[in-house]
Amino acid sequence: METIIYRPSEVFKAALKLQQGELISFPTETVYGLGADATNEAAVKKVYSAKGRPTDNPLIVHVWAIEEVEQYVQEVPEVAKKLMKAFWPGPLTLIFKVREHVFAPTVTAGLDSVAIRMPDNALTLQLIRESGKPLVGPSANTSGKPSPTSAEHVFHDLKGKIAGVLDDGETGVGLESTVLDITDPDSPMILRPGATTKEALEQVIGTVYVDRHLLSSDEAPKAPGMKYTHYSPNEPVVIVTGDKSVWEKAIETYQRQGEKIGLLADQEILHQFQANVSAIYSLGENKNINEASRLLYSGLRSFETTEATIILAQAYTQNGLGEAYMNRLQKAAGNHFFEQE
Ligand code: TXA
Ligand code: MG
Repeated sequence: METIIYRPSEVFKAALKLQQGELISFPTETVYGLGADATNEAAVKKVYSAKGRPTDNPLIVHVWAIEEVEQYVQEVPEVAKKLMKAFWPGPLTLIFKVREHVFAPTVTAGLDSVAIRMPDNALTLQLIRESGKPLVGPSANTSGKPSPTSAEHVFHDLKGKIAGVLDDGETGVGLESTVLDITDPDSPMILRPGATTKEALEQVIGTVYVDRHLLSSDEAPKAPGMKYTHYSPNEPVVIVTGDKSVWEKAIETYQRQGEKIGLLADQEILHQFQANVSAIYSLGENKNINEASRLLYSGLRSFETTEATIILAQAYTQNGLGEAYMNRLQKAAGNHFFEQE
């Protein structure tokens, strides 16, 4: 199959493909999604096979307006109304009790709940509206790989397997949306951290819980997708926490083992050590978590075309957006931190 790159002016052509049951990757503020008509079972099945995604991992449904939601769920609790008003369009996915017989069965992977979000990208909102259907949209990467933050990443992973990519340049946030379970409206629970932080949510709805399985690595989390290997580039990743002396030690240690090092760190660290390593990728200004989050996935992907045999990646403070950044990086690294002897 030829995979067409659609320009912003060709959004109606891409919408037509979706109506015909084809797959179109679309841009969002977080990462690129792999779109298909959420009411068309054959189309949704193609999403799982194009990504190589386990079929017990349900998909997020993308809508173009808040008003769309009520036809897809059993009820819209007060909490949801407040959250949608405050954060949509934006990087917040809400889990509702699903209304029966509206979505293709594989969308929810047999659960009685459904994940819904309204992405903050004008082109994609237009795409959803013109297709006339709610669209599933898992991240448009091969399952297990880092999520795509550009049309080129999508093309790299899914060329020949999907009808097209709607190209709107690089995404802004760079990490997937926060997933918040509100099926029990009295105890909203974060299943996946993202750019809509716990603190921001609590300002709108009061206490928010965090799925404790996210914190311990040995139990399966409630968002089925969080239990799989994720965001892994071709090279092993090791997380480095600490100041320059720790970086120096880490670089030395792995070089002694014959590894060729790829450094994924901010300008200050790179400036200090770039002469000693095989490849570098900048996470932006000194300790800027917004930039680091935006650049993390493209950074993880970047070493594929270099000599690097191992990636040393910078840890950031685990609060606010840093929660999401560290969650993804720890998965990419299989929780492997550099430990000094
Ligand atoms: O930012 C995003 O959310 C991106 C963009 C493209 O919108 N999409 C995305 O989709 O990250 P995906 O499929 O890669 O991740 C969806 C996550 C998975 O961890 C899945 O298990 C969880 O949401 N999920 C979906 N439906 C669920 C449900 N009913 N209950 C609990 N978790 C659910
Ligand atoms: Mg994903």
